[in-house]
Amino acid sequence: MESKIHKTGEQDRFIYNFNDDPSQVVMETIGMKVYYGDELAMHNDDIQFKKNNITSLIGPSGSGKSTYLRSLNRMNDDVARVTGKILYQGVDINQPGIDVYEVRRKIGMVFQRPNPFAKSIYDNITFALKRRGLTDKKKLDEIVETTLKQAAVWDQVKDSLHKSALYLSGGQAQRVCIARALAVKPEVLLLDEPASALDPVSTVQLEQTLRELKKDYTIIIVTHNMQQAARLSDYTVFFNMGEAIEYNETRKVFTRPKVQLTEDYVSGNFG
Ligand SMILES: Nc1ncnc2c1ncn2[C@@H]1O[C@H](COP(=O)(O)OP(=O)(O)OP(=O)(O)O)[C@@H](O)[C@H]1O
Ligand SMILES: [Mg+2]
Repeated sequence: MESKIHKTGEQDRFIYNFNDDPSQVVMETIGMKVYYGDELAMHNDDIQFKKNNITSLIGPSGSGKSTYLRSLNRMNDDVARVTGKILYQGVDINQPGIDVYEVRRKIGMVFQRPNPFAKSIYDNITFALKRRGLTDKKKLDEIVETTLKQAAVWDQVKDSLHKSALYLSGGQAQRVCIARALAVKPEVLLLDEPASALDPVSTVQLEQTLRELKKDYTIIIVTHNMQQAARLSDYTVFFNMGEAIEYNETRKVFTRPKVQLTEDYVSGNFG
């Protein structure tokens, strides 16, 4: 549904929504504000994320992309104060009494720098499962194989599952971290610039992986690379100074943006 351009303060904004078919919406933020100390870092970010789609978050450095992303699975709890609603499957997960570990199991995260644990590839993937009491080796083996295949890195690591994950290349390590995130069966996958440490070949492989994964997952990805956002995502949000300025189908954001600021940014005439 095309919503009107909202005028808030001095800024024009255009925010797409799926209110004509709410069953499509897996996550949504409503009236969310993020404060670092007394400083309001984010506001005006009412966004809905569509199931089995890839949504890119783009915008200049410091515009709040990571702040927004980390709020979605309560990763900001220790560093920021987050108010407002964060709906996951219709439930507000930004309220007291919510089990944040459960939230993070359902809404997995992959960070900018691949951060494998100093353990074997196998143990990286099974760590969280074992901690939750899964000991059946056959089951664990199965999950390791399935998730590494989903992350498109099985062929490269299947003969070194018991070697340290610290010796993997950046691209392999990033995909092992994706497999690790998938092992606990999340529904949403948050990725913060997952390709920034990767070479072009690994980047293309990662994008291919994400395209495959969107059949089973809802993916939200922060990227600085506008070609990547344009190639990969179904929907794109443009952030500026802590506000979502424009949210629409990716094609429209890049070819016919509705807000001047977005146009300036995507055409490289920004600032
Ligand atoms: N832990 C923190 N404590 C205080 N301020 C923070 C913290 N993290 C981020 N900020 C501030 O919040 C604003 C948004 O930062 P954020 O990291 O979300 O931007 P970003 O869009 O992800 O930038 P980049 O593209 O450089 O990663 C910035 O002004 C930043 O300085
Ligand atoms: Mg960031």
